[in-house]
Amino acid sequence: MVNVTDCLYRVVVLMILQSLVAESAVIYNVLSFGAKPNGTTDSTQAFVDAWSAACASNDSSTISVPKGRYLLPSAIKFSGDKCKTLDITFQIDGTLIASSDYRILGQANNWLSFERVTGVSIIGGTLDAKGTALWACKLAASTGCPNGATSLRFTNSKNISINGLTSLNSQMFHIVVNGCQDVYIRGVKVNAAGNSPNTDGIHVQLSRNVAIFNTSIKTGDDCVSIGPGMKDLWVEQISCGPGHGISIGSLAKDLEEEGVQNVTVRNAIFKGTQNGLRIKSWPRPSSGFVQGVQFIDAVMLNVQNPIVIDQNYCPRNINCPAQASGVKISDVLYRNIQGTSGRAVA
Ligand SMILES: *[C@@H]1O[C@H](CO)[C@@H](O)[C@H](O)[C@H]1NC(C)=O
Ligand SMILES: *[C@@H]1O[C@H](CO)[C@@H](O)[C@H](O)[C@H]1NC(C)=O
Ligand SMILES: *[C@@H]1O[C@H](CO)[C@@H](O)[C@H](O)[C@H]1NC(C)=O
Ligand SMILES: *[C@@H]1O[C@H](CO)[C@@H](O)[C@H](O)[C@H]1NC(C)=O
Ligand SMILES: *[C@@H]1O[C@H](CO)[C@@H](O)[C@H](O)[C@H]1NC(C)=O
Repeated sequence: MVNVTDCLYRVVVLMILQSLVAESAVIYNVLSFGAKPNGTTDSTQAFVDAWSAACASNDSSTISVPKGRYLLPSAIKFSGDKCKTLDITFQIDGTLIASSDYRILGQANNWLSFERVTGVSIIGGTLDAKGTALWACKLAASTGCPNGATSLRFTNSKNISINGLTSLNSQMFHIVVNGCQDVYIRGVKVNAAGNSPNTDGIHVQLSRNVAIFNTSIKTGDDCVSIGPGMKDLWVEQISCGPGHGISIGSLAKDLEEEGVQNVTVRNAIFKGTQNGLRIKSWPRPSSGFVQGVQFIDAVMLNVQNPIVIDQNYCPRNINCPAQASGVKISDVLYRNIQGTSGRAVA
């Protein structure tokens, strides 16, 4: 006979054990590492130390960034090389701000750069890279403006999630995914002026299995740009504009280049963008290719060039290679694309 009381007792013990395991994530609060949430004190060292501690943890760990403004004036690298845990959550309730002096970050390629990490989630948070002065420098066609930094980059990483992050006024690209596998981006907002140069929203390349859901991108360059070597990309429920739209390419920058394969974009809305759904490659030989693209259910509102496939891409007609394109484009579907074009040719 089964003893009901004993059975109940076991269930209760099991539940308690499970809740203990679930709560075993260790929390590292940046404030206890010396970060100052007043926007004026450099908190770099506190973030670096919190990362080292979280990454050395044997258990799941959470880096907590409470409300407030944290000055992180220069580039920070979060390396996974010494990490023991494969589960680190950055819970950001505050705003991370770069220096308003663009020269401090301008020569660095990246502001916040994650390299060779596994199982990192970023939840919430606002990144304010203060890019406006650098754009002004570039727009004035002054010489001596630095290139500027990408705000957030993941390189050679796996199982990454970015959820509910807002990225403001990046100097260059907002978010870059390079050499990664299994990346989930959801509920992200990107905001920069429509005339800001090179401020792509999300750039992905040399990666596999990347998904972007429910994302809004207002910026000066591509909304999502898809570079060589991107395989299995899913983009759904995205709003673009201002900006240059969603673009596969530019491809054929190099002779030896990996192809783009299996890209799906569904439920996209473009408002006042320069382009809608575009594929572009430079006119020169290349091993690159595009294979298997589905552009489904898009709405275009006053878009200059809603549908573009350009194998003779050469902006401003400067230094055009002027050869035949080596990039083979195949199996591309455009279905149910509606709306209005800003010009006579859609
Ligand atoms: C910010 O905090 C630091 C350290 O506590 C302090 O030295 C600095 O004066 C504070 N700045 C402002 C504007 O309150
Ligand atoms: C992690 O576990 C190893 C042995 O499994 C132990 O030596 C080390 O002290 C632990 N580190 C922490 C931070 O608990
Ligand atoms: C991915 O990382 C999360 C933590 O960010 C972890 O909970 C999950 O188990 C990981 N998934 C895989 C397939 O490793
Ligand atoms: C989409 O993302 C926004 C934040 O950008 C969030 O408020 C909203 O709940 C999300 N909606 C869905 C359906 O996930
Ligand atoms: C294409 O990519 C999606 C994820 O975006 C994946 O579910 C699907 O299996 C891939 N298809 C092929 C044929 O690899």
